[in-house]
Amino acid sequence: MDFGLTEEHLMIRDAARDFARTELLPGVIERDTHQKFPTEQVKKMGELGFLGMMADPQYGGGGMDTISYVLVMEELSKIDASASVIVSVNNSLVCWGLDTYGTDAQKEKYLTKLTTGESIGAFCLSEPEAGSDATSQKTTAIDKGDHYVLNGTKNWITNGGSADFYLVIAQTDKEKKHKGINAFIVEKNWDGFEVGVKEDKLGIRGSDTHSLIFNDVKVPKENRIGEDGFGFKFAMKTLSGGRIGIAAQALGIASGAYELARDYSKVRKAFGTEICNHQAIAFKLADMHTNITAARHMVMKSAWDKDQGRNYDMSGAMAKLYASQVAMDVTVEAVQVHGGNGYVKEYHVERLMRDAKITQIYEGTSEIQKIVISRGLLKD
Ligand code: CAA
Repeated sequence: MDFGLTEEHLMIRDAARDFARTELLPGVIERDTHQKFPTEQVKKMGELGFLGMMADPQYGGGGMDTISYVLVMEELSKIDASASVIVSVNNSLVCWGLDTYGTDAQKEKYLTKLTTGESIGAFCLSEPEAGSDATSQKTTAIDKGDHYVLNGTKNWITNGGSADFYLVIAQTDKEKKHKGINAFIVEKNWDGFEVGVKEDKLGIRGSDTHSLIFNDVKVPKENRIGEDGFGFKFAMKTLSGGRIGIAAQALGIASGAYELARDYSKVRKAFGTEICNHQAIAFKLADMHTNITAARHMVMKSAWDKDQGRNYDMSGAMAKLYASQVAMDVTVEAVQVHGGNGYVKEYHVERLMRDAKITQIYEGTSEIQKIVISRGLLKD
């Protein structure tokens, strides 16, 4: 057993840390307040290779391991969880899905642009009546020979307005239930495709979350991913890896809030001394750090499982379940340590507290993670 990181891991982590401090921190409050998408920052992250980290270098990817990816996710999320969710969706849902299951032609046409940040991707599974119950897809794709005709609505889609390419899950044969579901690559400028309303959110306000409307959109058959009927498994497999990325995001939100609370407690004085000298505050820091360390071990273990070719459905679900709860607990305590200052935007912890909540909801709620974990436990 080796808990050490390699030189390459440390280099990529430090590059992400520097980028977050110099490029994401300035303007993060303004972007959150005005729900402004970090266009310039995303472009730079593409140049740095953060958008297609694990994808095949033949298609512009970094060819890196999942450990590198979670290290980057943690560092970006300490400062700006809106930027990190853009990175997470593009890397683990879109690029990984295409890299693993796409054809050479699909990779050449789409993946090469997605890995470099020339284009951004979105993953479109959720619907008004198919959130947790993902098999209940109402969006249909009717087979017309050389193409499908897509109709329906998707909801709460990250990168919904800013993406160029969309991986869309739809029902092609209702009778076959989840075995009659397929995944398609859809381009933004195709006739009948419309970006709907932008959501006004509690947190991760710099990322753009939209509904999407498909009205008789013609999708060429070569844009279907995998064999006919593979769409639901494609979504599940992709989300299993996505959950490791969101677990790392939750870890980053928690560690960012902890570091702010620790530093504040060393300068803020009350009753004649720095507040870290009061046991009430020191014990909060001890609890935060202990829980963050446990979450980090779980996130790293799930990333390692994936890199070793081991099953990571359960370890990823456990990492997300635990790290997202730690993110909630730690950010609430970080606001408490800051007292009145914690409640104002300038001190950053209130934003991290708002951002933390979504990690218990997207890419499968905490309740869904418990379904995945318990089924995994009981299946043999
Ligand atoms: N890998 C491969 N196959 C899998 C799988 C996995 N991880 N999980 C399930 N499957 C397969 C099953 O083996 C089964 O196949 P067979 O019939 O051939 O055996 C099939 O899929 C159906 O599985 P279930 O019977 O378990 O299906 P279910 O209806 O009970 O649902 C669920 C399972 C885990 C609850 C699933 O619906 C789920 O994950 N729901 C949550 C969806 C979700 O995470 N949404 C997030 C939206 S995306 C997002 O948030 C992105 C963003 O923008 C940030």
